Amino acid sequence: MADAVLGIIGGSGIYDLPGLENSDWITVESPWGTPSDQVRIGEIDGLKIVFLPRHGRGHVYSPTTINYRANIDVMKRCGVTDLLSVSACGSLKEEHAPGTFVLVDQFIDRTIAREKSFFGTGCVAHVSMATPVSPKLVDAVAAAAEAESLGYARGGTYLAMEGPQFSSLAESHLYRSWGCDVIGMTNMPEAKLAREAEICYATVAMVTDYDSWHPDHGEVDIQAIIRVLHDNAENAQRLVARVARDLPREHQSCPAGSDTALEFAFMTAPEK
Ligand code: ADE
Repeated sequence: MADAVLGIIGGSGIYDLPGLENSDWITVESPWGTPSDQVRIGEIDGLKIVFLPRHGRGHVYSPTTINYRANIDVMKRCGVTDLLSVSACGSLKEEHAPGTFVLVDQFIDRTIAREKSFFGTGCVAHVSMATPVSPKLVDAVAAAAEAESLGYARGGTYLAMEGPQFSSLAESHLYRSWGCDVIGMTNMPEAKLAREAEICYATVAMVTDYDSWHPDHGEVDIQAIIRVLHDNAENAQRLVARVARDLPREHQSCPAGSDTALEFAFMTAPEK
């Protein structure tokens, strides 16, 4: 088995990863265009870590203008085997209070204005997204959250919306009626592209607000989101550091087939 390399994509409020040893910001070019930023490559206890701020340092890319294909391609080029997305989200359930980390296991993709595949004209492939997150990586995150005594929920459905505007009240109620747990703007098509790149993927969805549905809470407000993010940044960093310290140093093969997703995916015959 290959050495594990842990990638971290940091969402809103997470533009750096303190605690990385022997690290440097490096430019990695991609044929898919411009990634959100340089990557910071370093290590924690001998495990190679590749960090990318999803919105760029200075938060310059909106959820729609992020080049998700370039970001995932850059992770692949850096050898990432396991990719953790750390992302702010709204809560669609009472029990997921702000500050909770939800380790989601399903997605509903309602984004409409993004490139969603590495495959298209000339080379067609269809990968399975039935189990979109990698169970062993989620196990590692859950164990780390336990070890750090952080409030977390295991399992849940993440509704990916286009944004950048937040949901209307009717949309918020609709997504609740679908049984969704959290809502965010960025984890799709990221999870789909990670699967196409045969990278194990998991999401730590950090709840920052109750979206717009909760009668006891006001409308979503970016200032309040920033406050919660700020209060939880240290917890997120502790969680990531613990995952990195405890992750097996050899990449563990994925029971959901994330790391072999292309094996039976191609429709196009290989060129002779
Ligand atoms: N990110 C953080 N809170 C959110 C919300 N309520 N809707 C969509 N994305 C979010």
